[in-house]
Amino acid sequence: MKGLVRKLLPLVLGAAALQVSAAAVENEQRAKYNYQMFCQGCHTIDGVGGRSVPKIKGFIGHFPKYQKGREYLVRVPGSANSVLDDAQLAEVLNWMILTFGENSIPSDWKPYEAKEVGEYRQDPLMEVLDYRKLLVKELMAMGKI
Ligand code: HEC
Repeated sequence: MKGLVRKLLPLVLGAAALQVSAAAVENEQRAKYNYQMFCQGCHTIDGVGGRSVPKIKGFIGHFPKYQKGREYLVRVPGSANSVLDDAQLAEVLNWMILTFGENSIPSDWKPYEAKEVGEYRQDPLMEVLDYRKLLVKELMAMGKI
């Protein structure tokens, strides 16, 4: 019986994760297209970035571990000032987190919704890189990274 549970549990958890991603990214093709069109030029096809573009691969999921970081991903100029509407920006951010986040995604992560994205993006960041350093320090101090 225990063996069976051990076998089935990952399947159940896998199904739950799929459900989250389905809710987070309403239209996977559109999300991917938007990323390719508007973000990939700097963030690269594999999320590794380069020069002044931070590596989101295996890291982006750390930020939404607390509210300030959750807002940060929307307030960076690339997000806040993008031509995407709130719903599509929420979708592409959720897609980026699910596609590139890997182990950085917390188990209690909640996908972005259009409404909160609409609020956060009204307050775009100016000094992004210093602010980002501060957030990483805070996350480390909280033991979240
Ligand atoms: C012209 C290049 C460029 C484009 C296009 C761009 N970004 Fe960025 N992005 C950056 C840079 C550079 C940073 C680092 C912070 C800064 O200086 O703004 C960044 C940071 C980010 C971050 C924070 C990542 C981290 O680890 O700190 C997110 C989230 C993000 N961008 C989302 C987007 C989204 C979504 C799009 C497309 C709608 C996009 N960006 C398009 C250059 C770009």
